[in-house]
Amino acid sequence: MFYFGADYYPEHWPEERWIEDARLMANAGFNVVRMAEFAWAKMEMIEGKFDFDWLDRAIEVLSSSGIKVILGTPTASPPPWLMSKQQDLFLVDSDGVRQTYGLRREYCPNNPLYWIFTEKIVNRMAEHFKDNPAVIGWQIDNEFGDRCFCSICSTKFQKWLQKRYQTLEELNEKWGTIFWSHVYTEWSQIPVPLAILRSQNPGLGLDYRRFMSDTYRDYQKFQIDIIRHYCPSHFVTHNLMGFGYNQLNYYDNTADLDVVTWDNYLRMQWDMRSYIDPAKAALNHDTMRGLKKKNFWVMEQQSGGGGWEYVAVTPKPGELRLWTYQSIAHGADGIVYFRWRTSRTGTEQYWQGVLEHHGNPGRRYLEVLQVGKELSKIGDLIEGSQVHTRVAIMQSYDTRFAFQVQPNHPNFSYEKHILDIYKGFFHNNIPVEIISEKDPLEGYQVVVVPAMYILTEETARNLEIFVQSGGIVMFTPRTGVKDETNTVVNIKLPGLVANICGIEINEYVSMAVDEDNQVKFGLPELEEDFPTSVWADLITPKGAEVIAFHTMDFYTNQPAATINRCGKGKVIYIGVIGDNAFNVSIARVISNMAGIKPLMKTPPGVEVMERWKGNKRLLFVLNHLSETQEITLDGKYLDLINENQISGIISIAPLNVLILKELINKNI
Ligand code: GLA
Ligand code: ZN
Repeated sequence: MFYFGADYYPEHWPEERWIEDARLMANAGFNVVRMAEFAWAKMEMIEGKFDFDWLDRAIEVLSSSGIKVILGTPTASPPPWLMSKQQDLFLVDSDGVRQTYGLRREYCPNNPLYWIFTEKIVNRMAEHFKDNPAVIGWQIDNEFGDRCFCSICSTKFQKWLQKRYQTLEELNEKWGTIFWSHVYTEWSQIPVPLAILRSQNPGLGLDYRRFMSDTYRDYQKFQIDIIRHYCPSHFVTHNLMGFGYNQLNYYDNTADLDVVTWDNYLRMQWDMRSYIDPAKAALNHDTMRGLKKKNFWVMEQQSGGGGWEYVAVTPKPGELRLWTYQSIAHGADGIVYFRWRTSRTGTEQYWQGVLEHHGNPGRRYLEVLQVGKELSKIGDLIEGSQVHTRVAIMQSYDTRFAFQVQPNHPNFSYEKHILDIYKGFFHNNIPVEIISEKDPLEGYQVVVVPAMYILTEETARNLEIFVQSGGIVMFTPRTGVKDETNTVVNIKLPGLVANICGIEINEYVSMAVDEDNQVKFGLPELEEDFPTSVWADLITPKGAEVIAFHTMDFYTNQPAATINRCGKGKVIYIGVIGDNAFNVSIARVISNMAGIKPLMKTPPGVEVMERWKGNKRLLFVLNHLSETQEITLDGKYLDLINENQISGIISIAPLNVLILKELINKNI
C-alpha cells in the first residue's frame, strides 16, 4: 500500500470535529496520519497521571475511516511541570546561555532526569498502544540535533574522550595539544568548545561534534529499545531534516531505525523569493534515500506556505502536487502532509495545513485530493519500485564538522559545493545517490568525492579498489587535507589519494574574495574556458594527463585538472571551483566516460526520474517551470494519469507531472 496522509493534531481541535476531519481525510484518499509527537502535556498533564483515552478515541475515529496511525514519542516538547523541576534540564547553547521555557527542543539530551521522564512516557505509550491494530509505526522525538554545552554534557564528553583515546597521552598526541601549551593532565580539564573559543583546537572541535551526534544516537536508541520491546511488529523512524542539516551524523544515527523519514519544505518564510530551486529538494531526497540505501517517507510534505512570523510565499496552484510527485520520483514510499489543518494558536499559526484555519476544504485540499485520486490508480505500480543510480556523490559528516571548525575560505561552503556538483548531474537528468565515506562502492560506476577534507585510510583504500576494478572517481580541491583527528597530513595533497590521482599539488592557492580566475579545458568533448573562484590547485602530474590549465595570475599555464588511468578505471582531479555551466559540462563528460546516458534530454527546468520494479520502469517527468514545455519522448509510453498512449513530441503544462509506464515494445 502506498501511504498517504497528514500530520494530525486532534488535541488542537474540539472532539466533535474529529469525525469531519476523518471524513475529509478519507475523501482525499488518506490512509495514514502521524500524531502525538507534541502531545506530552495532553498525555501526562500532571506528573505520573497518564491519559491516553482521548488518543484512543481519536485513533478509533480515524481507523473507522480506514486510516492507520504513526505515533510520535513526545519528547521534543516537554511540558512545563517537567522542565520546572531543575535548571539543568535546559540545554546550554554555544554562547553558554541556558535556554528558557517557551519553545521546544529546549532539553539537554544528556540530562539523567530527562531520561527518567522519557523512559516513563515512552514506556507507558508503547505499553498502551502495542495491541492497537491501527498503529503501524513510531516516530522517535522530532528533528534531533541541537548541541548542548552544559556541565553535564561537558563531563559526558570527557568520558567519551576517555573511551576513544584511553589515555591522556594519546589524546594530547592526537590533538597536538603542545600547541599553545594545552597539554591536559586531568580529563576534567578538557573544555567544551564554546563559541567564545572562536578558533578552537581542531581535534577538540571535531570530537565534540562527533560526541554530540553520538549523544542523540544514544538517546534515540534508548527510546527505540522501549518501543521494540513492546511493539516488535511496528516500524520505528525519526523525522530528519534532509541534506542541509549538519549537526548530526545521519548515517550513524539512522542505523538503528527501520526507515528514514524527513521534512520536505520548499516555500518557507526564510526565503521569500519567487524562484524555487528544484535541485535542492532533489538533493535532499537523494541524501535521505542514500542513508539506508532504500526508499524513505516524507513525514512532513509541504501543504501550504511555511511561516511563523511571516506568511510565506503562497505555493502556486500545482506546486504542492508537483513537489509530492518529485518526492515519490526520488523514492518516497509514504507522503504525509504537514499539517492537516492550520493551527489557530501557537508559534506556527502561519504554517499552512491542507485546510485553512476555518477548516473548510479549499484549493490546497482539492490539490491534495487530486493526488490522492491519482495515487489510488497508480499507487500499486509505484509500490515496491526502486530508484537505480550509477552515480554516487560521497559526503562525510566528519568533513562537515571539520569545516564547521575551520571553514577554510569565507566563500567556500562544503554543502554548497556538494549541491553545485549535484546540480551538474541533476540538469543532465542523471540520477545520483548521496553516500557516506564508509559506504561500499560496488554497484556504482562513478563516484564523485567533493572536498573530502578528512580522508581516512579506509576511504582512500575503498576508492582505490573501486578504481582498480573499473570505476571512475572525481576529486575536487581540499581533498585529503586532514586525518581522522583533524590533523593536517604531512604528505603532499591530495594526501592519501595523490597516488591514484597520479598527481602532486605543489601549492593550493586561496583566492581573494574579489578575484576570479579561469581554466581552459582541452578535452575533445570539452574545449572551453570556465571562470573559477575560491581555490586554485597548482598540480604537478605524476603520471596523470593534464586536461585543463589555469589561464591567469602567477600560476598561468599551470595544470588545473588531470585524468589518470589506474587499473581498469580512471581518476579525475579538478583543482578549481567552477560555475554551474562548468559543473553541468563536467557531469556530462564524466557520465559519458562511464557510458551513462541522461534518462531523457529535456529543456532546463524539466526534471526526469525513474523508478524500477523488476525490469519495468516508471518515468516521472516534472515541469518545474511556469510555462508549458515541449519534450521529445524516446519511445512509446502509457501516460498513467491521463490513461492514454503517448510518443514523439509532447507538451507538458506548467508545474505539471507526467507519470509514464514504458510499453513493452520500446527498444532500449
Ligand atoms: C518542522 C517540524 C514540525 C513543524 C514544521 C514547521 O519540520 O518537524 O513540527 O514545526 O517544521 O515549522
Ligand atoms: Zn547538556
